[in-house]
Amino acid sequence: MEDLGHALAEGGAGMRMLGGGNPALIPAVTARWRERMAELLAEGERFDRALAVYDPPRGNARFALALAGFLQREYGWDVGAEHIAITGGGQAAFFYLFNLFAGDFGGGRRKRVLLPVVPEYIGYANQGLGADFFVGAMPAIEHPAAHAFKYRVNFERLRVGADIGAICASRPTNPSGNVLTDAEVAQLDALARERGVPLILDNAYGEPFPGIVFTRIQPVWNENIVLTLSLSKLGLPGTRTGIIVAHPDIIRAVTSMNTIVGLANGNVGQALVTPLLESGELRRLVTEAIRPFYERKAANARAWVARYFDDALDYHVHASEGALFLWLWFRGLPVSSEVLYERLKARGVLVVPGRPFAIGCAEAEAHAAECIRVSFAMEDAVVEEGIAMIADEVARIYAGG
Ligand SMILES: Cc1ncc(COP(=O)(O)O)c(C=O)c1O
Repeated sequence: MEDLGHALAEGGAGMRMLGGGNPALIPAVTARWRERMAELLAEGERFDRALAVYDPPRGNARFALALAGFLQREYGWDVGAEHIAITGGGQAAFFYLFNLFAGDFGGGRRKRVLLPVVPEYIGYANQGLGADFFVGAMPAIEHPAAHAFKYRVNFERLRVGADIGAICASRPTNPSGNVLTDAEVAQLDALARERGVPLILDNAYGEPFPGIVFTRIQPVWNENIVLTLSLSKLGLPGTRTGIIVAHPDIIRAVTSMNTIVGLANGNVGQALVTPLLESGELRRLVTEAIRPFYERKAANARAWVARYFDDALDYHVHASEGALFLWLWFRGLPVSSEVLYERLKARGVLVVPGRPFAIGCAEAEAHAAECIRVSFAMEDAVVEEGIAMIADEVARIYAGG
């Protein structure tokens, strides 16, 4: 990751940046945030308060009420402000949650986080305050069409042992773009309740916002589900605003962690978004601007893969059901994903090698070492050129070059 960071920083104008997770700057969306910032400035005292007054450690009260109301109206969930806490980005939310539910509990008792579908988000990998923190499960792999694959939770093999403190999945999944089906979520929810552990659903790309989901799903929440949301993929990563929707006991624990770690979190993202939650405009921004934008980007990226990859090669693209990435699998690739990453970087294309996404799962490691993650959030010309170069390099490698 550090190398990727350096490459991103030093890559210069020539580097095709298909490695990062930054959301695109969608003109209609950036225009709306500029407008909102001007409105906020014009709101006078509200602007002063956003800048000059610490929020309570749990987050802004008006924002929590607005979000609770939005979730009630959208889904009929029984959510109140007492179910909501703000963190300094989704990433920080995971650091809190993982170390709340897993790790060393004293007296020799250790708990771990179960990731039911690995490859899973690389950002979880080093968050545990302790070793051996994650148990990852290799999913079943389906092949719905030629050159296509899709992960399914392998419930037959999924074990929730006594050492499991929480189950966690990103939906849509970073890196694969997989979206757990409603049936899979229901089964994970049932399993979690049965074992008395929370189910954490990472909604960084999911419904109701940012809504970068290309399949029809019915989002669920109950007091055993810890739902994390983020303003980042709404085009506001700079505001570092993460949201946890969970049982009030968990919210109280997160609030204490916020107090200890950061006193309070940034107010500005919440101040910008609150009126859009209150009016319901956020739903429109998602359905009319954000989702169609990424849906088109995903379709283009898939079309370029089909165009540039040699049909004779044993390549597979994961079903692109959401998020910002194509997850490419080169079965039997004679070099590791890291070597492929280095070779692509030398040619001016930055991707993310697959292996580090195989968190806590040796079986997934061999598979992920044949995969790369390619972001399609950049300008079309950059994505197309990058994909053409990946196709060319992979063909060379398969040919022994
Ligand atoms: C699956 C997933 N979860 C969480 C995050 C954290 O995002 P942020 O800290 O910007 O909210 C990301 C960032 O890309 C992500 O991809």
